Amino acid sequence: MAFKLAHTDPQTKARAGTMTTDHGVIETPIFMPVGTVASVKGVHQKELREEIDPDIILGNTYHLFLRPRTPIIKAAGGLHKFMGWDRNILTDSGGYQVYSLSANRKIKEEGVKFKSHIDGSLHFFTPENVMEIQRDIGADIIMAFDECTPYPCDYQYAKRSMHMTHRWLDRCLLHLQKTPLSYDYDQFFFPIVQGSTYKDLRRQSAEYISNVGAEGNAIGGLSVGEPAEEMYAMTEVVCEILPEDKPRYLMGVGTPINLLENIALGIDMFDCVMPTRNARNGMLFTAHGTINIKNKKWENDFSAIDEMGITFVDKEYSKAYLRHLFAANEYLGKQIATIHNLGFYIWLVREARRRIIAGDFAQWKNIMVKQMDKRL
Ligand code: GUN
Repeated sequence: MAFKLAHTDPQTKARAGTMTTDHGVIETPIFMPVGTVASVKGVHQKELREEIDPDIILGNTYHLFLRPRTPIIKAAGGLHKFMGWDRNILTDSGGYQVYSLSANRKIKEEGVKFKSHIDGSLHFFTPENVMEIQRDIGADIIMAFDECTPYPCDYQYAKRSMHMTHRWLDRCLLHLQKTPLSYDYDQFFFPIVQGSTYKDLRRQSAEYISNVGAEGNAIGGLSVGEPAEEMYAMTEVVCEILPEDKPRYLMGVGTPINLLENIALGIDMFDCVMPTRNARNGMLFTAHGTINIKNKKWENDFSAIDEMGITFVDKEYSKAYLRHLFAANEYLGKQIATIHNLGFYIWLVREARRRIIAGDFAQWKNIMVKQMDKRL
């Protein structure tokens, strides 16, 4: 994968770059809409492509392995063909999803035994079989199998878990070498830094991950309930160590403010369910703050959903109409809100990129962080 840094911001550590894979160019910083089960919930691929226009989306190994199941995706010719998406895809390894199962999984050195959330069937993920599954799903970027520690996490557990994640990384790498590509395009492997909220562990993990010399590097175990300041502190120590000339992916983050603060610390890639999930609950993100569209105050507000929005829904429909759709529990309400929120997230990272290149990112970020913190 070719990663080119086009600009670095002199006042912060923000970067603007491009990543190129066989499925096209990804302009960084980027936000990846989450398409857990081969669907970005509530958004048609055509709308996603034409209105929201992300260069890359994310899928989940855990969910796709259970349903439709890997052989079905393989028979379709890979996830791109199966879901009708010809741009980039990244799959998460299942390390986080299995962790989220808490009572329904058992973590051992060999791997993780877990119970399917669909039918209760028992399965076993190892670093080896997760690499094989990700080969067959066929995303452009595939992730190491790791353990995401909870918050809070005691030091000894975090340390033991981090070392196991490192041993699992070695097993992933060894097995990937033996596992040929399933399709006629390349795949790139990203390892994941862990270490909970401990700076010394984070540094140790970042050193270990950097030594692998991967095409890109990820930071996991954050946005699991810790205060934002702790997240930023961890991002900062890790970004000091991760190689400058490789993309850095902060997993599962976050709010629009989290995105800008972490871009300023040197992060290039993000994913999060927040814009899609919150949209389905009637929460809209805008440059001027958040809106709870279910609130009675919007009942008579016939102004556009978001005058500055980049998608067609933003000017086409009024706040009053969208509020009505939520009140009537219409599918369309969730769809419109999702298109708006994803459009806003993509606009935000694109605008950040433009400002980094123009040289006024720091000033813009400070204004935006204040504005976006408001509730409208
Ligand atoms: N998504 C959010 N956090 C994590 C993490 O720590 N590991 C993985 N694999 N995915 C994540």
